[in-house]
Amino acid sequence: MIKCAVSTRKGRFGQALIWGSPKFPVYGKSYLNLDKRKDRVVIVKKLYFGSNLKMYKTVQETTEYLKHLAEQTKDISREEAELFIIPSYTALADARKTVDPAQIKLGAQNMFWEEQGQFTGEISPIMLKELGMDLVMAGHSERRHVFGELDTEENKKVKSALAHNMKALLCIGETGEEKDYGLSPEVLRTQLKIGFHGISQGQIPNLWVAYEPVWSIGVNGTPASADYAEEMHKLIKQTLKELFGKPSKEIPVLYGGSVNPQNAEQLIAMPSIDGLFVGRAAWEADKFAQLIRRAIKARKANQPA
Ligand code: PGA
Repeated sequence: MIKCAVSTRKGRFGQALIWGSPKFPVYGKSYLNLDKRKDRVVIVKKLYFGSNLKMYKTVQETTEYLKHLAEQTKDISREEAELFIIPSYTALADARKTVDPAQIKLGAQNMFWEEQGQFTGEISPIMLKELGMDLVMAGHSERRHVFGELDTEENKKVKSALAHNMKALLCIGETGEEKDYGLSPEVLRTQLKIGFHGISQGQIPNLWVAYEPVWSIGVNGTPASADYAEEMHKLIKQTLKELFGKPSKEIPVLYGGSVNPQNAEQLIAMPSIDGLFVGRAAWEADKFAQLIRRAIKARKANQPA
């Protein structure tokens, strides 16, 4: 017999709310896992797994990668895990023809905020929408630190993506120097407060955050420990609550920065980490599929009773 009474209804933001008791509402994208052996209902939060392909992979390589990834993850319930890939601009049109958004969402690595104009070399939200993009990334550390983008520019990109009905994935993260000075909380709070300035509660369903400490990214990066990442994720969630109130729980906060098969399970087991944003370790479809599978298993094993 199942001990816990569970109800579902349409939530304020159009998503299913599932809760075990009126005292403990669970907002956002959750699903039920009936654990008959232990005679209980477990409420499991949806997880997010994605990769930014950076300036790698040709059009052909991207479509082959996507085909393999779709094939190798087809048995994973998209209620349980949302998958997204962010290829180069040149591969976006073919990528869209290759995979169904219900299976794998697609995004752009960057975007200019104006719809059109004399902005040579830039790509507009209308152009990305035309290609059927689901999301736009703003503020990846390489945009901020190699190309000198500012928080105020990320804010314009986020607003523009939302205005064109695409999800905005805002990437934030402190440099090694800022961490050493003990400034990580201030940096993350500033990046969130400026990046999401002027955004309303009603836009929450289209907001995603990736915490990617700059010192952890790329070949010379050191992955953050699961405990450090959890501490920063808690701070990020607290800041989102200050900005948007309780419904901010809907905003998934992903960890990125040298995620690999060795640390993925520990990271995803942390209660405030909602997903993994993976670079190098995701660029072979079979390895990424395996990482996702193991991470889902690890999260389930760590689900509070
Ligand atoms: P990495 O890249 O996993 O190769 O460190 C992460 C990122 O830049 O998003």
